[in-house]
Amino acid sequence: MASTRALQIILILTLCLGLQAKVFTRCQLTRELLKINFSRTFLSNWVCLIEQESDRNTSALVVKTSRRKYYGLFQIGSEWCKEGKKGGKCDITCESLLDEDIKDDSVCANKVFEQEGFKYWSKWEARCKGHSLPDIEKCPDWVHPPPIRSSPPRDKRTARGKRNIRRFSRRSIMLNPLI
Ligand SMILES: *[C@@H]1O[C@H](CO)[C@@H](O)[C@H](O)[C@H]1NC(C)=O
Ligand SMILES: *[C@@H]1O[C@H](CO)[C@@H](O)[C@H](O)[C@H]1NC(C)=O
Repeated sequence: MASTRALQIILILTLCLGLQAKVFTRCQLTRELLKINFSRTFLSNWVCLIEQESDRNTSALVVKTSRRKYYGLFQIGSEWCKEGKKGGKCDITCESLLDEDIKDDSVCANKVFEQEGFKYWSKWEARCKGHSLPDIEKCPDWVHPPPIRSSPPRDKRTARGKRNIRRFSRRSIMLNPLI
């Protein structure tokens, strides 16, 4: 009885995860990455990496062994996250690398990049490095980038506003190691 119930719960959770799966088109992905403020310089490398690693599927999961798994759009390895609670080198849950929200994935991927470079991703090395990269310059958002929220005018800089600005700039530094 109890195990049937557990099985039902697992089934529901699996279905929920399945529903959260999102597969971007190349231009949608370009848009999202520009919105999160990836530097344009290496954007086609990131798009290539994501296409090769996950087919632009936010819930891609590759299980090599029970201790060696790769999660999400960027196929980030299990040493960078922890299942069930925050942890690993990115201090996040591995589950959060499988949902549609790719902001946290991106922060983590940039951390991987800072520490290991693109060569961390073997498929980038094999299929992107020195190869022709996806042509994202045709994407509408490459030509007309989505608006970036600017900081509020000086007189609106309340305590909360200041906090947000600080958070903002820390994030943009993290996401722009290349600028
Ligand atoms: C995305 O990945 C999930 C998990 O691996 C898989 O179940 C789903 O079929 C994939 N979606 C597409 C469209 O490939
Ligand atoms: C994006 O990066 C640019 C250049 O580093 C910065 O001026 C801008 O504030 C950043 N925007 C966001 C939303 O982080």
